[in-house]
Amino acid sequence: LIDSVSLRRVLDSRGNPTVEADVLTQSGGFGRAAAPSGASTGEYEAIELPPTEAIAKAREHAVPRLVGTVHAGNQRDVDAALHAADGTDDFSEIGANSAVAISMAASKAGADVLGAPLFQHLGGTFRDADRSFPIPLGNVVGGGEHAADATHIQEFLSAPVGAPSVVEAVFANADVHATVAEILADRGIAAAKGDEGAWAPAVSDAEAFEIVDEATERVEDALGFEITFGLDVAASELYDADAGVYRYGDAERTSAEQVEYMAELVDEYDLAYVEDPLDEDDYDGFADLTDRVGDRTLICGDDLFVTNVERLSRGIDEGAANSILIKPNQIGTLSDAFDAVELAQRNGLDAVVSHRSGETEDTTIAHLAVATGASFIKTGTVGGERTAKLNELIRIAEEAV
Ligand code: PGA
Ligand code: ZN
Repeated sequence: LIDSVSLRRVLDSRGNPTVEADVLTQSGGFGRAAAPSGASTGEYEAIELPPTEAIAKAREHAVPRLVGTVHAGNQRDVDAALHAADGTDDFSEIGANSAVAISMAASKAGADVLGAPLFQHLGGTFRDADRSFPIPLGNVVGGGEHAADATHIQEFLSAPVGAPSVVEAVFANADVHATVAEILADRGIAAAKGDEGAWAPAVSDAEAFEIVDEATERVEDALGFEITFGLDVAASELYDADAGVYRYGDAERTSAEQVEYMAELVDEYDLAYVEDPLDEDDYDGFADLTDRVGDRTLICGDDLFVTNVERLSRGIDEGAANSILIKPNQIGTLSDAFDAVELAQRNGLDAVVSHRSGETEDTTIAHLAVATGASFIKTGTVGGERTAKLNELIRIAEEAV
């Protein structure tokens, strides 16, 4: 049984406070986890409260329901207790940041009690060891809400789809990141890094496509396996709902033009992956685009689905996407995140497990991606809070064979 739950404020990668939880069991099991935080958050995400408030509320309502009554190893019970303590459908009472930190910390304490690695505990005894390992998507150029005066499209993601192993995939993304820096230097373009460690040059989106295309090709030639790329458009941030247009600086596109533009990009650059190509309310536009190019690329719903089974169900009914982004803090517990993965995979959609732009050294999502058999894991390329997950993935790959 859970013996104690302690909560504290720690720093995230942006220097903001976030919630960290420690869970200790009566048999000596221990787990620690921290909540990440988004910048381009979806309208329909579970509610993140100011950390001080989230901690106070969780101490008052959630901790008493967990201590002495719930087994850390029984994730469904832990997460049901968190929901019962909160009493709302969006964790607005105790905060999704407190909920997800406790949920993830309990899973680690549960694994510790069993003496099993977390991916094994979460994936279960009958986890299919032959399932393909998640391929890391590496953010190499970006802008949007993650960097000022850079690209309108939020993320250009290196996708080493032909990598023979996860280690080679991780290093390939780092090579692409370094090669982008060389190309920028050759062109005399200075660049700082955005929130996720991607280069954030003041270039047009068209020039960013050129640069990333060249960088992935160069690294592909050097390494000898296929490396393509993908995008997180984060189109909700570009959408002006009043005018009904997507704004790229001075340029604008109607919804139909946006679908057309995305379809052209998929074909021109052989994109492996396109996340949030349209606004989070535009199921129809998503369905149009999936219909047009879903046979050759992943159309992924992040702000569209927010890891929420109800929004995903609607998306499945309407054919709105062929993959879902999974962010545990969008929904508040690991059980809810697993339910979304299961519903997606049962209906033939791919799962892509993801970090947030505000991160910590926490590595839970690396284990979650392996446990669920996710096709991809999106967790950056460089920077300690990103490499924490990538390096954990490399360690898991050694154990999981
Ligand atoms: P966020 O961005 O964590 O700032 O929401 C990541 C994403 O949109 O995938
Ligand atoms: Zn996104």
